[in-house]
Amino acid sequence: MRHYCIVGNHKMNVSEYEHSLEPERKKRFVNTMTKAVREGHTIVLCPTSVRIEHIADVVNGTGVALGAQNCHWENSGAYTGEVSPSMLAEMGCTWVIVGHSERRRDQCETDELIGRKASAALTNGLRPIICIGESIEQRRRGKTIDVLNKQIDGILSACGRLVFDASVIAYEPVWAIGTGLSATTEQIEEAHLAIRESCRERGILDTPILYGGSVSADNSDEILSCQHVSGALVGGASLSSDNFSSIVESAIRCANA
Ligand code: PGA
Repeated sequence: MRHYCIVGNHKMNVSEYEHSLEPERKKRFVNTMTKAVREGHTIVLCPTSVRIEHIADVVNGTGVALGAQNCHWENSGAYTGEVSPSMLAEMGCTWVIVGHSERRRDQCETDELIGRKASAALTNGLRPIICIGESIEQRRRGKTIDVLNKQIDGILSACGRLVFDASVIAYEPVWAIGTGLSATTEQIEEAHLAIRESCRERGILDTPILYGGSVSADNSDEILSCQHVSGALVGGASLSSDNFSSIVESAIRCANA
């Protein structure tokens, strides 16, 4: 039986289930999360930092884990606007996304910086979800695998093998994020196999590899059934109670298929 890891990334949004839901929908959401966790799946919700405690109340008792969308590499200091891994851990987080392509783009985050964040996260008891992925131009030029390897090497040289080994990788093709245009199962299998092989060559053996980029209730069965896919990083669809429940139900179904 496969055990999936399904991560919801709320980005800078407030999810629907933070408001009061009709009892039937709330019941479906809570029951689905509880069932998935009981069956050995890992479900993580990553709200914006100021909503972490709010989401903790919403999922209280379900076994859903809390994560953040970013952290700093230091635990305290003169870093205006930043949140440290130790602060996130204190709020109950056990996971953190690092290196999301939106932060690489908007905050100019480099592989080296992402590696340092992953390392600081793990030291503070947060499991890093390390994001990698190619742009559409890189894919068109046939550079996808080279780009993924370069990202892995850059992060690895900053955090070391042990940190990478204890993390989760999220393969997120940049062109598939928020576009409604998910990668095809062939593209996903090819990239995941390449990442798995690169990891093995570098002595990283068991790191789960998630897929992210326009995962929805309509394509989750297909994506989660792909070889080497250990779960999904879900953005837009994680904001809706019904959509996120459907994706988690899909993980339960695929695990038993
Ligand atoms: P999306 O986002 O599911 O809305 O494409 C995924 C992500 O950015 O993590």
